Amino acid sequence: MYRVIERRMIVPNLHEFVVEAPEVAKSIRPGNFVIVRPDENGERVPLSGADWNREAGTVTCIFMQVGASTSKLARLKPGDTIPTFAGPLGRETEIAHFGTVLCIGGCYGIGSVYPIARALKEKGNTIVSMLEARSSYLLYWQERFKGVSDRVIEITRDGTAGYKGHLTRLSEILTLEKIKPDRVIVNGCTFQMMKASEMTRPLGIKTMVNMNPIMIDGTGMCGVCRLSVGGKTKFACVDGPDFDGHEVDWKEFLNRRRTYNPEEVHPLRKSGCASHF
Ligand SMILES: Cc1cc2nc3c(=O)[nH]c(=O)nc-3n(C[C@H](O)[C@H](O)[C@H](O)COP(=O)(O)OP(=O)(O)OC[C@H]3O[C@@H](n4cnc5c(N)ncnc54)[C@H](O)[C@@H]3O)c2cc1C
Ligand code: FES
Repeated sequence: MYRVIERRMIVPNLHEFVVEAPEVAKSIRPGNFVIVRPDENGERVPLSGADWNREAGTVTCIFMQVGASTSKLARLKPGDTIPTFAGPLGRETEIAHFGTVLCIGGCYGIGSVYPIARALKEKGNTIVSMLEARSSYLLYWQERFKGVSDRVIEITRDGTAGYKGHLTRLSEILTLEKIKPDRVIVNGCTFQMMKASEMTRPLGIKTMVNMNPIMIDGTGMCGVCRLSVGGKTKFACVDGPDFDGHEVDWKEFLNRRRTYNPEEVHPLRKSGCASHF
């Protein structure tokens, strides 16, 4: 069993979740994920590592409360235990000296891009972190990002912080800020990763995205997480989750993500949690 050290809502619907898992904490690297089960009957929830403390043996994830399993996680309190916290899984993000790296985070991806920005900074890169949300009250960890970035840029849909709008303004913002990234890394919802990849393709900037298909085992056996990248079938759990955003077949990916939407609402209705749908 794994002890919950902290679980608190940091902005509406997004929770910071700290779990005591010394074996995972010892070896987790930026870009890795874990698979969590909230209880013995729960389904397996993949969550990216957002931070860790190797000495204390703890791992931090940021999760968004979207369905039945993440609603169970959202009810956990410090001192509770969970039966599964398996990892680290997936390939780590490539950490090398690229020059200027633009690290874009949205939603729970703000959390998961943080250790990537930190590791790339330690490698001597110039880090520009770009945090995106619908409104300023949904942004978090800005102070942490300031500690590992040369610049932090915010974009909010309603203009309450930073640039007003969406990642579709990316090339304009890069021109205004006089930033010429050698690499772009995007962690966030599918739409954000797809849009950012569309924007960087004509600029010829390599763009890595952290894909989040439905997963079951997380170890390459079930095939559920397959996606097409560069015309080849890949399994996100073992070949990724990072892939070149210019090579991902986004249309196929979006279609596969929608397959189980009716089934995902069903357990929420049963548990009476479906009010936000
Ligand atoms: C590698 C990876 C890393 C992820 N990291 C994070 C993270 O750091 N924070 C976070 O909030 N979410 C993360 N996700 C997504 C998260 O796993 C799902 O939101 C979660 O499983 C939803 O479970 P649910 O029962 O609450 O919702 P459901 O109602 O079951 O589903 C809600 C949404 O989550 C997707 N989903 C459902 N089950 C899975 C599954 N087993 N694997 C992947 N997606 C699923 C569905 O397609 C749907 O869009 C990650 C997914 C992957 C594959
Ligand atoms: S989750 Fe089963 S093969 Fe990737």
